[in-house]
Amino acid sequence: MRTQVAIIGAGPSGLLLGQLLFKAGVDNIVIERQSAAYVLGRIRAGVLEQVTTDLLDECGVGARMHRHGLLHDGIELLFKGERHRIDMRALTGGKSVMVYGQTEVTHDLMEARRAEGLATVYEAGDSVRLQGFDSAQPKVCYVRDGQAHEIECDFIAGCDGYHGVSRASIPAAALKTYEKVYPFGWLGLLADVPPVSHELVYANTERGFALCSMRSPTRSRYYVQVPADEKVESWTDEAFWDELRSRLDPQARERLVTGPSLEKSIAPLRSFVAEPMRFGRLFLAGDAAHIVPPTGAKGLNLAASDVKYLSSALVEHYRDHSSAGSDHYSDRCLRRIWKAERFSWWFTSLMHKFPEAGDFGQKLQEAELDYLVGSKAAATTLAENYVGLPL
Ligand code: APR
Ligand code: PHB
Repeated sequence: MRTQVAIIGAGPSGLLLGQLLFKAGVDNIVIERQSAAYVLGRIRAGVLEQVTTDLLDECGVGARMHRHGLLHDGIELLFKGERHRIDMRALTGGKSVMVYGQTEVTHDLMEARRAEGLATVYEAGDSVRLQGFDSAQPKVCYVRDGQAHEIECDFIAGCDGYHGVSRASIPAAALKTYEKVYPFGWLGLLADVPPVSHELVYANTERGFALCSMRSPTRSRYYVQVPADEKVESWTDEAFWDELRSRLDPQARERLVTGPSLEKSIAPLRSFVAEPMRFGRLFLAGDAAHIVPPTGAKGLNLAASDVKYLSSALVEHYRDHSSAGSDHYSDRCLRRIWKAERFSWWFTSLMHKFPEAGDFGQKLQEAELDYLVGSKAAATTLAENYVGLPL
């Protein structure tokens, strides 16, 4: 088999890249470790910046999102038992975010790929190997149903997430990694109950962080901060609802509707960046190159901007015979990534309980939050980062 670009991973990065390349006439094959159903079963974040929605529109997969997504003009910050609204639209000259689950984005991209009849290999397991990407003839090898396959290509796009094979294939000495691991995780619960508020509520409380999010007017996604070593099995639905309730203001507590969980899981919090994002003819994009803690929901949006830069670079190569885009790919991505890393770290630091920070730390967080909701300058800084910095 031969293709122009072999894409490793059918998460949002890989599928979006495949679609953008296809639209520009660049041939590609996606190779995924898991089945499509497994990929769609993962519950991830759900806030899209306008840069991301524009990109989905550009590759023709935005229709369902515009029908079912929820446009949000603000968020609420809850601290010292009271909620305060940040009017993002007013502070950013008219920008908002789209609440639409990553699972739905993935579904729409898979559906578009299927409708166009584009080649996707699912269930390749751990057999995928990347070869020759430091030469002009890269190759991707994999085993499917006991049979060995080989794809010759011009470029490989490593879109296979944090635990993927792509970053691991680059010689360690050629990469510098930066990492911060937080001493807590998010216990998340998805349920078919109406959201407690029509906007997202980010809560700083003495018991720890909580987030009230949603997928639709009838489906809620809630999170509470838990210690990093917590086990999901030790949380009944009832215990979750009790803990969430204890972190809300009286009005929200009253409004909270509970119900059986559709999904419950714990996600660790981590900041991670690998530099550079290109090695020869292998490009990394999305979670394969960087992780942000979920406070602020930047993960999927960063994946989308990487992929935008990468598709432009590859199209430039084929259309204009220019390597300028490829040569600048890593630097262009990293400028935006580090700003999102900074924002996600700051918002995480502001909203979570840090065991070692004590009462003094709690008081400083509350003072900063009070400043944030009382100062237009401070609120604007939050708002412009939350809706997404320009590409
Ligand atoms: N071979 C082939 N595919 C692989 C391999 C491998 N060795 N390892 C991992 N994969 C697949 C995973 O099964 C997954 O479907 O690569 C895909 C990577 O998808 P994601 O982890 O979702 O990463 P990405 O597409 O970069 O999405 C960006 O946004 O909201 C955030 O972190 C969240 O996943 C999200 C991310
Ligand atoms: C979610 O809905 O899952 C979500 C929303 C906002 C975040 C993180 C996660 O900051």
